[in-house]
Amino acid sequence: MKLAVIGTGYVGLVSGTCFAEMGNNVICVDNNREKLKKLNNGQVTIYEPGLELLYQRNFNQKRLRFTDNLKEAVDFAEAIFLCLPTPQGEDGSADLTHVMEIADQIGNILKQSSDYKLIVNKSTVPVGTVAKVKEVLTQKGAKSFDVASNPEFLREGFAVDDFMKPDRIVIGAESEKAFKLLRSLYEPFVRQGNPIIEMDIRSAEVTKYAANSYLATRITFMNELANFCEKAGANVDLVRKGMGSDTRIGKRFLFPGIGYGGSCFPKDVNALIKTSLDFNSELTLLTLVDKINKEQRLRFFNKIKNHFEGNLKGKRFAVWGLAFKPNTDDMREAPSIPVIKMLLENGAKVKAFDPAAMTNSKFYLNDKIEYADNMYDALPDADALLIFTEWNEFRNPDFTKVKSLLKEPLIFDGRNVYDLDDMEELGFTYYSIGRKI
Ligand code: UGA
Repeated sequence: MKLAVIGTGYVGLVSGTCFAEMGNNVICVDNNREKLKKLNNGQVTIYEPGLELLYQRNFNQKRLRFTDNLKEAVDFAEAIFLCLPTPQGEDGSADLTHVMEIADQIGNILKQSSDYKLIVNKSTVPVGTVAKVKEVLTQKGAKSFDVASNPEFLREGFAVDDFMKPDRIVIGAESEKAFKLLRSLYEPFVRQGNPIIEMDIRSAEVTKYAANSYLATRITFMNELANFCEKAGANVDLVRKGMGSDTRIGKRFLFPGIGYGGSCFPKDVNALIKTSLDFNSELTLLTLVDKINKEQRLRFFNKIKNHFEGNLKGKRFAVWGLAFKPNTDDMREAPSIPVIKMLLENGAKVKAFDPAAMTNSKFYLNDKIEYADNMYDALPDADALLIFTEWNEFRNPDFTKVKSLLKEPLIFDGRNVYDLDDMEELGFTYYSIGRKI
């Protein structure tokens, strides 16, 4: 199939590459010249395990091309996927500027053509956006087209796997022609039997926000429960195992920590709250989720501050992990940022190590913190070690070395990486989430 993917950000680049890997001919469009130059020189622009191999293979085979020429891509493709950013606007709603601008441009191109085109929205957009895109195209005089919704559920760090072997594909469309085209495009991806779920467009748009908001709520429930367990003398890890074994609950996504971050959950929770208010049907639970999630970071900071009896001036902290989660260099809405900022505001010094996110973190933390060459290099003379991201390489360190380099054997772990008994045996004072100190 001939496809166009508009936007070569995270979703666009992964989708375009994976579509090409399944034998489709794909043109990806972006207006960022710098990015296009790299992509046309055989350089992947995001950090994502497994992507480079697929990109190289399909780029070399010329099944995957990159251009800034939207018309060329629209003329070429049967289906045009919109993979554009929808950042959080000032009032919490999703900013649709990019999506609507491209809709406008596609409308101008399509009015000169009578070929059928399927425009598929993959960007995370509030309910009713696809209808707006359709309206723009109709107003511009486009004749033979459909607009569909096909939300994307891929996770950073697992994006290629998630795309190639999705749990499900959601398609929202209005015509059998659109359903048929997307069905045949996606069938090779669900050969093992996972479902392609067909529905109306508005339900597909809501599904994306519902999934992310539910997951954010689940994490928030666990974070609040962890805080309660600390007070009640219970161990949230054991509670998690006990409850997660109920097949109605399930084991995944129940890990408490320092709050969810990233470019999706915080933004999508706020956007859904805003949309619910627009429809005069407030999702009050989500308002609390957002509030509790922010408080969770403050709580972690207060744990540190309380240990030092309120005085952090001149204290030095080693940090392991800056990214919002492991296997990514993404620092957007990373919980490490507000906590580190609070430490600095209180007069502390920070030396951090992250296997992938140190370059990106400079954008958020400037040169206000020091960066270490490796995890052990962060430790000398630190008053404590703080863990913000559960990278695998932090799971089994040389504890003797850690102990000898730190000023005192003190760890604040925001991700429950270590076993409580082990830490006690090793002689660490060990603060974690929802477990006794
Ligand atoms: C999330 C969703 O999981 C994807 O399905 C969705 O497609 C994507 O957003 C999106 O909308 O594009 P992602 O933001 O990559 O994916 O990251 P997650 O793995 O979902 O983690 C989000 C946050 O929750 C991270 O800060 C992570 O540390 C935290 N988390 C996750 C927990 O605190 N506990 C858990 O048990 C799981």
